[in-house]
Amino acid sequence: MSVQLELQHVSKVFGSGVGIVHALTDANFKAVSGELSLVLGPSGSGKSTFLTIAAGLQVPSSGRVLVEGEDISKLSNRQRDRLRLTKIGFVLQNYEMLPYLTVRDQFKLVDRANDQTLSETELKHLLDELGIGHLLDQYPGELSGGQKQRVAIARALYQQPAILLADEPTAALDSNRVQIVGQLLARLAHEKQQAVVVVTHDERLKDFADHLYQIVDGRLSQES
Ligand SMILES: Nc1ncnc2c1ncn2[C@@H]1O[C@H](COP(=O)(O)OP(=O)(O)O)[C@@H](O)[C@H]1O
Ligand SMILES: [Mg+2]
Repeated sequence: MSVQLELQHVSKVFGSGVGIVHALTDANFKAVSGELSLVLGPSGSGKSTFLTIAAGLQVPSSGRVLVEGEDISKLSNRQRDRLRLTKIGFVLQNYEMLPYLTVRDQFKLVDRANDQTLSETELKHLLDELGIGHLLDQYPGELSGGQKQRVAIARALYQQPAILLADEPTAALDSNRVQIVGQLLARLAHEKQQAVVVVTHDERLKDFADHLYQIVDGRLSQES
């Protein structure tokens, strides 16, 4: 079990003067391969800020982000893009898809960037497990919110990233689906040795976590 992702004293400030927002304050965090870490916090507590900084999509105001021990601020933009494509998978909060591509083609898009994707059989199995195997020829506009969310989850898992980051992956799902998604994320961590990090306000995911963190007003603390 190796440390895949580490945040050291990471803070993020937006604005200045009376309008200043301390979105994240001195966050310390480690994600290890083979484990699911859950960060629980209410809306506006800094979850998306934390996750996008961890992903290298946003730069911290101070502190460091290490991926496999390497400080990502020291990389060129090109190297950072490469790292994101090969090591990090996301399930973003607003699971947007390209509107003119069918569900099937949303996966082909990933193929071009990555060569360690799931086999066709494994993908079929994953889609069926998520209850979206029959939607391959649909366009995003024809899907419900919950179906789009599950396609976004499948698309991230399809890449088999060493680090999987998910922002509110269950927001649009009913309780049965929450259980399925929770089990799936935990199983990926345990069986495929991925470092899985989920940020959410959804207490229903607690049972699946190996480690639990709380975030309140931008302050992250580890509970277990
Ligand atoms: N780009 C931004 N500019 C200004 N304020 C921001 C920006 N992004 C987030 N914030 C503020 O930072 C705080 C944390 O936001 P966010 O990380 O989105 O929380 P969460 O994901 O937990 O709902 C909020 O007060 C939010 O308004
Ligand atoms: Mg958010």
